[in-house]
Amino acid sequence: MTVTCILGAGYVGLTYAAGLALKGMNVHIVDVNQTVVDLINAGKCPIDEPGLPRAIENGVRNGFLKATSSLANVFDESRLFLVCVGTYCDNRGNIDLSQVKSVARDLRDCFARSDVGDYKVICVKSTVICGTTDGVVLPIIEESGKVAGTDFGLAMSPEFLKEGSALEDILHPDKLVIGGLDDASIATVHDVLGTFLDETTEPGKYVVKTDLRTAELIKYAQNSFLATKISFINEMANFSELFGVNVADVARAIGMDTRISPAFLQAGPGFGGSCFPKDVRALYSAGRTMGFSPLLLESVLDVNKAQKRHVVELLQWEKDVDSTTIAILGMAFKANTGDTREAVARAVIRRLRHLGAKDIRLHDPSPHAVHEFKNDFPEDDVISYHESVASALQGAEACIILTEWGDYKKLVPKDFSHMVNNPVIIDTRRILSTKEFEEEGMKLIVLGESRNRSFIPK
Ligand code: UGA
Repeated sequence: MTVTCILGAGYVGLTYAAGLALKGMNVHIVDVNQTVVDLINAGKCPIDEPGLPRAIENGVRNGFLKATSSLANVFDESRLFLVCVGTYCDNRGNIDLSQVKSVARDLRDCFARSDVGDYKVICVKSTVICGTTDGVVLPIIEESGKVAGTDFGLAMSPEFLKEGSALEDILHPDKLVIGGLDDASIATVHDVLGTFLDETTEPGKYVVKTDLRTAELIKYAQNSFLATKISFINEMANFSELFGVNVADVARAIGMDTRISPAFLQAGPGFGGSCFPKDVRALYSAGRTMGFSPLLLESVLDVNKAQKRHVVELLQWEKDVDSTTIAILGMAFKANTGDTREAVARAVIRRLRHLGAKDIRLHDPSPHAVHEFKNDFPEDDVISYHESVASALQGAEACIILTEWGDYKKLVPKDFSHMVNNPVIIDTRRILSTKEFEEEGMKLIVLGESRNRSFIPK
């Protein structure tokens, strides 16, 4: 059986390791962080992701999953190497390939010391811009004296996992994309990652076999398309507010057309997280570098930025920011994750501070999200952190809901009864019922719902 070695114990690497171990396959996971390695070997999960702690504990206990900080320890016995390290991106969209290069150098050193034996395959899973696998990874490994396509194989297989359901997404993928240097590389990746596909009915239907660069672009195209859907529906949400319409009905109706589909048509405060903003920016700036202007992607990013400002605008239409006590519910970029990378709350807090807010009270059910925010927005005379929703709302004059946590979905008018001074509640995730709040005489503004019905075409 192919032994797989996963390079990078971030959320992608850990989830693949756990998923393969669940399928009874032997996996080594390599990470430079010894603390993370020790945690995994003790059967513990270093990240907050549903289902993962149990899967890792089982994998380690059953002997399928082992972690190490040295690739050399496990290189010989491994056949497939999945590169799952991070590719961070600066504000201009330049992706940082330092971790990818570092892993490639580790592989180079191991290849240099080893005899040519089994055809080992390196498969990049990290999201990398077109040309990285054949133009950056391949030449580094060839510095070992071994030749790609002869002594080792090379592949690129993007991942499509969502935080909060990553393990489920691995165990039940809707497709497997494999770009390869040659058929043997593709076959090795297919043997291992194909175990997750239910191909009993239509073998091969959900497998896309292609070349390295196409696989790289597929990942960016998919994330950019989903981000485009979100910016599109957010723009429709703004129209809905102006025309006196509920965007939910618009989304539901257009989503019934199978050419559109209902997924990713949830209007909200703009997309965040570690993927969409970074990937759209990276593709946009790769185009610019080549002298091409990706106008659509530019608009997707602009609409997203404007949507975050619109959240504050909704408050400004009701209250003076500099004299209002504001509670913010939700720091995580979406529900069921502690991740706050590019979370809307970051932009909203920065904007509120810029506008002179004097009292901002923050709450999030995830201790991890709170911890990340406390590092970046330390508690001071403006910002305070609250362990309960009730404490954040006590004496607040405005409340902005930014994350669709299950706990927030259960909030009813009574939970807001300790707010003061004609309070306003702004629901940017569209999780509360306007009718219920209206009945209690409370002001609830739901993003994407009618602001007035006065618009008449001339
Ligand atoms: C995203 C993709 O969905 C995954 O397929 C992909 O593998 C992953 O990026 C990645 O590239 O690694 P993720 O960032 O975990 O996954 O989260 P999503 O659930 O896609 O949400 C992204 C953002 O869009 C969130 O801020 C979310 O609140 C927002 N969103 C999503 C909306 O505003 N409306 C929607 O209808 C859907």
